[in-house]
Order: sequence, then C-alpha cells, then structure tokens
Amino acid sequence: MKPQTTDVRQIAEPRRTADHGRTGHRAPTMPATVHASTASLPDQHDHPALRAALAAAIEDTIIYDLDGIGRQYTALCAELPGVAVRFAMKACPVDEVLGHLARFGSGFDAASPQEIAQALRTGAAPGLIHYGNTVKSDRNIAEAYRLGVRDYATDCLEDVGAIAEHAPGSRVFCRLATTGEGALWGLSRKFGCSPEDALRVLGTARSAGLVPSGLSVHVGSQQMTAEAWVAAVDSLAAVLEALSRRGITPDRINLGGGLPALGVLDRRGRPLEPPLDKMFVVIREGMERLRAVNAAPLDFLLEPGRHLVADHGAIRAHVARLSSRHRLDGTREDWLYLSCGKFNGLYEMDQLQYRLEFPTHSGGQFVDAMVAGPTCDNDDAYAQEDGLVRVPRAITSGDPVWVHSCGAYAAAYATRGFNGFAPLPYTCVGGPAPDGGGA
Ligand SMILES: Cc1ncc(COP(=O)(O)O)c(C=O)c1O
Repeated sequence: MKPQTTDVRQIAEPRRTADHGRTGHRAPTMPATVHASTASLPDQHDHPALRAALAAAIEDTIIYDLDGIGRQYTALCAELPGVAVRFAMKACPVDEVLGHLARFGSGFDAASPQEIAQALRTGAAPGLIHYGNTVKSDRNIAEAYRLGVRDYATDCLEDVGAIAEHAPGSRVFCRLATTGEGALWGLSRKFGCSPEDALRVLGTARSAGLVPSGLSVHVGSQQMTAEAWVAAVDSLAAVLEALSRRGITPDRINLGGGLPALGVLDRRGRPLEPPLDKMFVVIREGMERLRAVNAAPLDFLLEPGRHLVADHGAIRAHVARLSSRHRLDGTREDWLYLSCGKFNGLYEMDQLQYRLEFPTHSGGQFVDAMVAGPTCDNDDAYAQEDGLVRVPRAITSGDPVWVHSCGAYAAAYATRGFNGFAPLPYTCVGGPAPDGGGA
C-alpha cells in the first residue's frame, strides 16, 4: 500500500458535461485540469482532525469527528435561539456521538424502544427523549412508557387510542403532513395527517386523558428550499388557530428534521448548495408568527439528523479496481469499484454523490468513471446518468479513497453483511467537551 499523505488534496470533482455520446468512447482519458481543491469546498472538509484520522487509517473505517459535530450543534443553537434540539438518532446511532451530543445538552428523537434504551444508556434524561415515530405497536408504546418516555408523536386515532391505553396521561403531538417538495427525500405519504385529522386526533387525545401538547412537521430530508418551512408554518398556524377555537392550546411546536448537509453533490455530481441562511431566517420568522397565533407561550423543538452529522463523518475506503469495459453498443466505460458502497455505508449513493478524494494520487492523467460499490448488486452504484467522476488513471487496487460528508445514515443503513461485505467499523476523533449548556 502506498503511504498516505495529508497534504495531497485532490478531491474528485465529477465531470459535469453532458457530452457523453451514446456511442464511441464514453470516458476518455483526460489531462488533470479540473479538480476541486479543499480550499473551494465547504470548510468542514478542512477539519484537520478528520483528515488526520483519515490519513492515519490503514484499514477501511467510518470516522466521526465529535468536535465537528459539537461545533455544528453549537452553531445550530446560535442560529435558532431558544429552540431545543432532539437529535434524530436514526441519522447516527453511534454511542459516542449520542453521548457527545447529550453532553452538549441535546435531547433525542427516538423511533423505537431500542433507540430509547440507547439514548438512555448514552446519557440522555428520559424527559429529553420523545418517541417521534408515528408508527408503533402496543408493545412498543408500553415499553417506551416503561423506559420513562412521556412524549409521543401521533397522526391517527388508532395510535392515539393505543397511547392512551399503554402510556396513560402522556403528552402527544400530532404530525401534520407536508408535501415533501424541495427535498431529496420527501416524507409525505407514510407520515402525517391533514389539518382536519389533526383536530380530531388532538381532540380525541384530550378526551382520552392524554395531553394534546403540540404539533409537528417534517419538510423532507435534505430539504433544498426555504419555502418548505414557509408552507409548514402556514399549515401549523392554521391548525393552531382552529385548535384554539376548540379550546386546545398546545405548548410546543416540533419543526422536525430536514436541514441539509452542505458537502454533498447531486446525482450528476453538481454541488448541492442549500440556502441555509435563508432557511434559518424563515424558521425564525415562522416561530415568531406561530407565537403570535397561539394563546399560550410556545416552546420549539427541532429534530435535525443529517445536518448535525453528515459533514463531520467520512469513510476511509479503498479501491477494489479501476476497470474498463465495452457495453453491447460498443461504448467504452470506465468503472471505479470501491470497497464501500450502498450496502456497507453509502446507502444514499443512488440519490446523491459524495466527494471522493484519492490521497495517494496528486497528478497525472485522469479518467471519467462510473463509481460503484463492491457487491454483486446492480443498485450498488452512483446513479448511472451523467455522474461520472474524475479518477486518477494510475489508481490501483488497494489505494485509499476518502469519502467525504457521509456521516449521516451511513452506520444505520449498513446491512449485516450483504454478499459478505460487513458493516464498516467506526472510529471517533475528538470528544468529551462541555456538559450541559445546550437548549
Ligand atoms: C421524525 C423524524 N425526525 C427527524 C428526522 C431527521 O431528518 P433529517 O435527517 O432530514 O434531519 C427524520 C428522518 O427520517 C424523522 O423521521
């Protein structure tokens, strides 16, 4: 294996032109002219601790930068003063990450009794954990109640009845449906109800001895527009007003997840550039508006997942093979097969691209290649559109590849060993820092 260096900063920028004909040589050898350097990337790529850990790794691993995650948490709290964070555990159910966030004062959005138990084990107080999954069995609810959770998401009468029976007296917040427009992953069908349903749900909750404590939304994951929160606030305001006419006055609004990662690329390799500042402005304005509408003071929660962790995790993978083949129509294609793919860390690779860095190759010639994972499965690849990635031609089996901004959902989505490719081990750098202090 070649020695790794930290000063070589060749980050593969996927080829953006759409000039790949359907015939002929699809991926010609290119001189090394177009590269993104880390200087031009969002500064999370420049975290020295993460880079040092990537450089030090001699085997494949996911690395989480706890200090980076802590900074992200602090920055988010500064942008949205007074908003309490409930980290969406599914985005990174790693003990050290959860424990670190708990030390900063974060609470947790759990989706199962198992996640609740993990949050408790890693340092969260039961009062800072809510059961944010609208889908739960009687047994799930009873177990969550036994573990001390008294806050439940809901969106239908059947679930309200079950909560009243198995978690008596608890607080419930009703999730309103959103369109999911503007998000890479809309969450519009499986979760959330109409405004009319929400009135029935919270009215029934009150009659059943539960506390109708609030409303929630989720605008869709990796949301790319500020307008999504404008629409969500419109809907929340209308339901608050209608609830007030029924004598129900919630004390809490949960604005859900959806805040984006900054360092990922779209399916064609173009940088995703979400208007984060505008999103924060819209959320702050929305909070003011909702406070004005509600008859009683309102607290606000947020359930960020990917925004807190995506850009502070990276994978050290290696090259399985750079190869060249001809398709049936005679088109030549170059393929870069990595040791890591959809089933052992990069589950989202069919919807977006991660920035790749080849630390042992700083110059020479490049080829524009399809990128795929190591398994014998066709889906284990970047979307096969125009998302070719510029890869050093001299790269060889075993060479390290750094995959950036994959700290969210990488660990949770890894299979138990599809085709024998086991989930990657993980490493954490940085850590223990402040106790308390967060919202
Ligand atoms: C209820 C709930 N809250 C929060 C999140 C986190 O979303 P994101 O990672 O987009 O912030 C999810 C993700 O699916 C979710 O289901």
